[in-house]
Amino acid sequence: MSAPRILTSLRPQLRLARIALPSPSTRSSFSTSIRRLDNKDDSGRPQAAHPSKHASRPVSSGEPVAEHVKEDESKRAGLPEEPMDGPPPPPLAALPAQELFHLKNRTILITGGGRGLGLTIAHACLESGASVRCMDLLPEPSQPQWSKAEELAKSKGLEITYHPLDVTDQNAVSNLFSDLFKMDSKEHPIRGLFTSAGIQIMMPAVDYSIEKFRKVIDVDLTGTFLCAQAFAKEWFKRHPSMDGQAGVDGASIAMTGSMSGHIANLGIECAAYNASKAGVNQLAKNLALEWSRKGIRVNTLSPGYIRTALTAAQLDEKPELNKIWLQGSLLGRLSTPDEFRGPVLYLLSDASSFMTGADLLVDGGHCAT
Ligand SMILES: NC(=O)c1ccc[n+]([C@@H]2O[C@H](COP(=O)([O-])OP(=O)(O)OC[C@H]3O[C@@H](n4cnc5c(N)ncnc54)[C@H](O)[C@@H]3O)[C@@H](O)[C@H]2O)c1
Repeated sequence: MSAPRILTSLRPQLRLARIALPSPSTRSSFSTSIRRLDNKDDSGRPQAAHPSKHASRPVSSGEPVAEHVKEDESKRAGLPEEPMDGPPPPPLAALPAQELFHLKNRTILITGGGRGLGLTIAHACLESGASVRCMDLLPEPSQPQWSKAEELAKSKGLEITYHPLDVTDQNAVSNLFSDLFKMDSKEHPIRGLFTSAGIQIMMPAVDYSIEKFRKVIDVDLTGTFLCAQAFAKEWFKRHPSMDGQAGVDGASIAMTGSMSGHIANLGIECAAYNASKAGVNQLAKNLALEWSRKGIRVNTLSPGYIRTALTAAQLDEKPELNKIWLQGSLLGRLSTPDEFRGPVLYLLSDASSFMTGADLLVDGGHCAT
């Protein structure tokens, strides 16, 4: 290429390089320090948002932002021993890290709490200090897990109660949530909902009857919505002026989606289920948009395969699935319900105070490939 043509082709890069370099007059006093965004330098350009004792520098200087910056401790917010200008840090900052996951002094509502994942989470909530109200289509919860949960509750001075409910029945949902909020105590106010009620029907899409398709959507998606809606209605009646302040006295809704809301599962034909779970993920984002500034965070948990009654039925129907599912897992195994205690406690507790409208994918690496 001729010299002029090389220059022509390099011109845009040269122009960019000129913009990135400080002018000769500022080069001598050049500093890597930066100030708050509301400050402006002589050129009127905004400065980076980090506080510092040092001179400001344009954010567009082309240098790594905040490199070698000496932090002004008095302006750092968050930890109790580090004061800041302006409003005091939220009380959450005073909680020691090991207590962030506690659910002390609150009650958690759980749908699908009669067995499987829901009942395991009920047990974990009790262990973390919360009272629990379980709802499920089953007339009675599964034994012996339920009796164990009752014993645990008694030993900790907490409550666990069981309430038969069809999550697709709007009136029943609305009445039960209203009753549960009326049972609320000052010591253990309701501050969380975990939705775990769900069904799965495997069938090739061309054979899917409309009744079955609607049933899956009705339980997994509409049922989740109805419970979240009933929760929010009762919450807003009691907390008309709450905002998005981190974790403080707010509520958290954690909805069970699935990795199947992100992918199509090799080996099984379950279009309705997967569509319903993708819907749950999208529902949570929209409810988070509407409710996060009114005191309710909304997130989803997307589990990979869990060994429960639900998957046992699938494996009974198609034993070859076991091999296919194991191949898809980077950990080479299916999960057990107890492996979701940590993720769900995180979502329900103040540990996730800045998380809303998000999905927590816990799938043994399945979706990574
Ligand atoms: N097991 C898995 O591999 C897996 C993976 C990803 C997501 N999930 C999801 O986790 C959740 C729990 O599943 P699980 O594996 O514990 O299954 P599970 O069948 O043991 O539990 C589901 C519970 O929902 C209840 N339920 C069903 N229809 C209901 C209705 N109309 N009203 C109220 N309750 C109803 C059932 O009675 C049951 O107790 C489900 O939402 C499921 O889709 C499961």
